[in-house]
This record gives sequence, structure tokens and C-alpha cells, in this order.
Amino acid sequence: MAKKSKKKRTMAERADRHVLYQDSVQDSEFELDFVENTYKDIRDKKPLTLREDFCGTARTACVWTKRSKDNQSWGVDFDGEVLEWGTKNNLKKLKPKQQARVTLIEADVRTVETPSVDVVLAFNFSYWILKQRSDLLAYFQGVQRTLNPDGIMFLDAFGGSQAHTTQVEKHKLEGFTYLWDQNKYNALTQEMSCYIHFRFPDKSRMNKAFSYTWRLWGGQEIEDLLVEAGFSKVRFFVQKFDDETEEALDEFEETREIIDHDCWVAYIVAEK
Ligand SMILES: C[S@@+](CC[C@H](N)C(=O)[O-])C[C@H]1O[C@@H](n2cnc3c(N)ncnc32)[C@H](O)[C@@H]1O
Repeated sequence: MAKKSKKKRTMAERADRHVLYQDSVQDSEFELDFVENTYKDIRDKKPLTLREDFCGTARTACVWTKRSKDNQSWGVDFDGEVLEWGTKNNLKKLKPKQQARVTLIEADVRTVETPSVDVVLAFNFSYWILKQRSDLLAYFQGVQRTLNPDGIMFLDAFGGSQAHTTQVEKHKLEGFTYLWDQNKYNALTQEMSCYIHFRFPDKSRMNKAFSYTWRLWGGQEIEDLLVEAGFSKVRFFVQKFDDETEEALDEFEETREIIDHDCWVAYIVAEK
């Protein structure tokens, strides 16, 4: 009898897009160091309660509870599938006592009700999905109300001439290549369509693993909306570059000016 031919699945077929996303896009430990240190510098105490908006797999909310037995977190996302993945692969991997301090909520960040918290995070530019000014303002107002009196919101943003073009950025990582594809850009409305693709050493690909339609908000527009929403002070911390190699460093410095950069990334820190 002839042997059944068993086709070997490609690396792309075997890969999990959420694992790849976490490995290429997210550095929760670094983000939380920045959050905790900046909060301590501003408020002279440690933040304990954290809400991760647009949490996706809720990796950051889960890492938060591992950092201290006093830490508690909430993760909010309106996509049940990604929350389920995060529950199975991130939340359930925590110790039972840590798990008990994480609450994942399937809801829209614009309408969700959570207890008051010390910090709210909206990272990886996710809030750019809110393209109308009124929509983004309403979201910021909701966050402002949710924060404790000493609360701080942390966001991020990018810009520079390269942000206003179509381009594909490639990063070779361990076991795969990550591609950030700024596929379409409307120079009038600043609406952009972006994809994340992954490529593997066996030449297989996972195309459009993630898709985003965003408005490329400017730093000043974001600050104006945060102030309008009631935040008392907004600060920008821009990522530093090595002067010689021009490589991005894991260091962010407070600034009010970013001069003619091709590409900048910054944290935005908004105090209640
Ligand atoms: C780019 S992922 C962000 C993942 C993670 N927070 C990070 O830092 O990488 C964006 C997530 O936002 C969620 N999302 C988009 N709009 C939302 C909304 N209005 N309310 C709640 N979640 C939303 C999507 O379901 C998606 O999981």
C-alpha cells in the first residue's frame, strides 16, 4: 500500500500571530518600568492600580500584577477572541494570587466603567483608531474621570516625515522577520492603513496578520485634546538616538521640541 503523503506545515502555518505580536511589538517590562519610574518622579509614590486600555492579549496588565503583590490591574478590549487568547496564554500562566488581581473586561474603552485607578495606559498607538476629534475627546474625558485624584494617563505617539509616507519597515528578529507596512496614507485627512506581516526562514509568510486604520494624530493635537478633557499637565518624553550609529536607544527624555526628525516615537504623560 502506498504511503500517505503528509505535507509538512509551513512555519507560517504553525505560528501563532499573537505570540509573534507580543515578541515583536510589545515590551511590557520596559513600558512598566517607564510608567512606574515616571509616576514616582511626579507623585513621589508608587502607582498600584493600572488599567490597560486596548489591552489585546493583556500581557501588560498581567505583567503588572507579577511586579508586586500590591499591584492590581484591569484590561479592556472589545474583541472577545483576543481576550480569550490572553486569558489562556497570559492570565492563566500567573500564580493564582496574581490572577485574582487581574480583571479582563470585554468592552469598548469609550464606555467601560471600572474602579478608579492610579494609571491608565493606551499603548502602541491604539487610540489612533479613534479618528474623530469628538470621539477621542470623549475617550480622554472618560479616562480623566476614571483616574484617582493623583492619577496619570500614559500614551504613545510617533511622527516625523516617514510617518507621512507609505513604506515597509523590516526587522529581523529571532526566528522570523517582522514587517510594519504603512500601506496607504491620505495626506489630507492623515488617515493611514497599516499592516503587520511576518516572514519566516522557510520563505513562508503570514500576510496581514494585523490591520489598522488610524488617524496620524499630531503631538500638539493630542495635547490640546488631553487639556480639553481636563488633564492638568501634559509632558512628552521622546526616544533618544545614538549620535553616531543613529540607532534608537531604550532611553526617553522629556522635551518640548523635536526638531525635523524623519521618525520619532514618544511617550505622552498626562496628569489628572
Ligand atoms: C494594537 S492592539 C494593542 C495591544 C496592546 N495594548 C499593545 O500595547 O500592543 C489594539 C487593540 O485595541 C482593541 N480595540 C480597538 N478599538 C477598541 C475600542 N474602542 N475599545 C476597546 N478595544 C478596542 C482591538 O481589539 C485590539 O485588540
